[in-house]
Amino acid sequence: MFDPVYIRKDFPSIHQFYEGKNLVYFDSAASALKPQAMVDRLSQYYAFEASNVHRGAHFLSDRATGYYEDARQTVADFIGAGEDGDIIFTSGTTDSINLVAHSFSQLLNSGDEILISKMEHHSNIVPWHLVAERLDLKIQYIDLHEDGRLNWESFIDKLSSKTKLVALTMVSNVTGVINPVKEVIQKAHEVGAKVLLDGAQAVSSFEVNVQKIDCDFLAFSGHKIYGPNGIGVLYGKSELLNKMPPYRGGGSMIKEVTEEGSTFLSAPFRFEAGTPNVGGAIGLAAAVKYFSSYDRHEIHQHKKFLLSTLENKLSDMPEIKLFTHGEQDRIGVCSFEVKGVHHSDISTLLDQEGYAVRSGHHCAQLLMKHFGSSGTLRASFDIYNTVDEIDGFVVALKKAIGFFK
Ligand code: ALA
Repeated sequence: MFDPVYIRKDFPSIHQFYEGKNLVYFDSAASALKPQAMVDRLSQYYAFEASNVHRGAHFLSDRATGYYEDARQTVADFIGAGEDGDIIFTSGTTDSINLVAHSFSQLLNSGDEILISKMEHHSNIVPWHLVAERLDLKIQYIDLHEDGRLNWESFIDKLSSKTKLVALTMVSNVTGVINPVKEVIQKAHEVGAKVLLDGAQAVSSFEVNVQKIDCDFLAFSGHKIYGPNGIGVLYGKSELLNKMPPYRGGGSMIKEVTEEGSTFLSAPFRFEAGTPNVGGAIGLAAAVKYFSSYDRHEIHQHKKFLLSTLENKLSDMPEIKLFTHGEQDRIGVCSFEVKGVHHSDISTLLDQEGYAVRSGHHCAQLLMKHFGSSGTLRASFDIYNTVDEIDGFVVALKKAIGFFK
């Protein structure tokens, strides 16, 4: 049964004090806390099971290989990858997007276009800047409505037969806005464009099934879904991945190496050069299993309820400017500013009261420019947060505002 008070028992780090204050963690959009089950699995791996994979002549290596490939299957099942897709383990969302940017772009021609939105995290902007300059590709930008939601007319306007890839976040890390990705994918496919989704904020909030939405690529990170750092996922359709040249070369990804050159294994192995993050993959699988033990719909509803609870309270405060309103099409992420006070001053005072929020541009400078803001305060919620914490947060926020007025 989904009960945040009960769930909190699974997360040791939430039961901490900072300068005598209870820690209240409202920064899960940056990195989620870790359940004991994941920590125990990681510890078990490093204590007793650690070995290299795919190349051993002994039982430790065989066993680690089995666990590593089981982890791949767990992730595949989690996102509904099916038999026509592959799961590549990467170091995180950023690494996954860089892989697509550098490898898929090799299939493109000068003048081809990549379509991204102005709400993207820098990890889905900068890799495109890097390859566009080198390969003479053009980047087009989908405009946003005033409140940060995707402007559908702008998307349709910018999409053309020149578009070869639409790279879009499923959810804004700043506003929590959920994009209509299924409709975007349908339209993109009509003009022959492929679609890469940044699922970093999505997979820990609601069901993401790559076959149902028919995306060509999906990137996400382990650490935002209760997993370890340094592990992430790139899902891709196998047919497409096998047309793409490897992004990095090394061991475990070749068929043959001669003086003349190398030939490569099929996906996913052609994209996993070198010793992979075996422990990270096993830890991620444990985290995914933990997450999947709860109903994703209930998780989504819980986060939206926390969001609307906070926004209702903030709406009554004249000192607050909310950037995006309403729980419809959002996850539990709320960005706001205190009028006339720098966001980092407020976040410092909140920290002194035990409230962990993020402040700044959130690696989304195009969105900040759109909002005409240098940065926001961002509170983000997860399964272990409660309404009581929001009540306390509003008291602490009022106290911080009072300091400056
Ligand atoms: N992408 C992470 C965030 O939004 C770091 O905070």
